[in-house]
Amino acid sequence: MRIGVLASGSGTNLEAILAARLPVAVVVVDRPCRATDVAAAHGVVSELVPWGGHGADRTQFTHDIVDALERHAVDVVVMAGFMVILEKPIFDAFQGKVLNTHPALLPSFRGAHAVEEALAAGVKVTGVTIHVATREVDSGPILAQEAVPVLPGDTVETLHERIKSVERRLYPETIREFLK
Ligand code: GRF
Repeated sequence: MRIGVLASGSGTNLEAILAARLPVAVVVVDRPCRATDVAAAHGVVSELVPWGGHGADRTQFTHDIVDALERHAVDVVVMAGFMVILEKPIFDAFQGKVLNTHPALLPSFRGAHAVEEALAAGVKVTGVTIHVATREVDSGPILAQEAVPVLPGDTVETLHERIKSVERRLYPETIREFLK
């Protein structure tokens, strides 16, 4: 099994996946980011497929991402903090084999601002959801969930870090089960 990881940011989930010795064949990023350095530090090749931002052709971008993954003969795609919404081509190319981690208990707080919205809603418990990604954002079959408490005085940063510390354990475990 060969995993392709998609990332856009600090890459701490990627680090956990690599530390768990999961078979990562390539890391694909849409912007210069720390995830590239994490890949390099583990001797894993990375590819930059630049996202043009608002107004760019999302379907063409998705095709370019699929091409990058296919060049490395990837079997399973793992999104780890990938911040661009992808279109149909990736879900056709890797049917049922695109995984995502979301920093909330889905179906609550879908979208890119899940931590902020959970804090604003005043919930006492939020969490982590690992799921199979589908065309509909932050939907798709749930593989694993774990609750994370919201504590008095939390900021977006402190809450997100508590959530991420759970993701870094739960995501590698769930990927390993999925590969079986
Ligand atoms: C994670 O919380 C993930 O759920 C969210 O972005 C964060 C990525 O963190 N979509 P990192 O880049 O793995 O450190």
